[in-house]
Amino acid sequence: MVLITLEGIDGSGKSSLIFALRELLADLDPVFTREPGATWVGEQVRRAIAERADPVTEALLFAADHAAHIRTVIRPALDQGRLVISDRYTDSRYAYQTATLEGVVPDPLAWLKAVHDGWTIPPDRTVLLLLPVTEALQRKAGSQKNEHFEEASLLERVQANYLRLARDEPERFLLVDAGRPEKEVHFLVAAAIREWCGLLRSHRRRYGHPPLPPQGDR
Ligand code: TYD
Repeated sequence: MVLITLEGIDGSGKSSLIFALRELLADLDPVFTREPGATWVGEQVRRAIAERADPVTEALLFAADHAAHIRTVIRPALDQGRLVISDRYTDSRYAYQTATLEGVVPDPLAWLKAVHDGWTIPPDRTVLLLLPVTEALQRKAGSQKNEHFEEASLLERVQANYLRLARDEPERFLLVDAGRPEKEVHFLVAAAIREWCGLLRSHRRRYGHPPLPPQGDR
């Protein structure tokens, strides 16, 4: 019944963080999941990314993947009282597609929020890994993938968008300096998730709803 999301630009260290959290939080038996790609729709998203579909098609496919993700993974796990940790979630759309839809629709963030309105499940807490774009791209340099999202100018805008989202909801976001020693980052995030779980669970038991932030339809 606790939904934690992990966000950050490409190369910010989410993959190694998740790898570490699997061990550090094993006793909490979390459901680890991800966007895109936790459902069959994810395959279409990967195809759209590879074929450089137009930004509207791409955004709607990411949103479709999110809908299928909620129905098949997120909601069932939350209904069972599980801790869910998602590698990317709605904020990825709000950060990346706000950049790619710039000049395509009049107000990309409002458009994206309207697309999600009424059916998405807002995260309880979000970890945002922050790293200068040049460093993030250096980290990515060794990897095989080279998606069109991994361009410095786009990632600068994406990171700025993430920071804006965090500023709008400071109580939901934990900002983490991903340039710190890796182990430190992993332990810090694991400790924060433990604390949130205790806080959110006891508050829900007592009042039937979480303390912060205001929640949607759980
Ligand atoms: P992913 O495979 O998770 O990449 P990474 O392992 O680097 O996080 O995601 C592929 C790309 O899709 C990544 O560059 C971020 C982007 N993305 C969006 O643009 N919008 C979204 O809603 C999501 C979930 C991902």
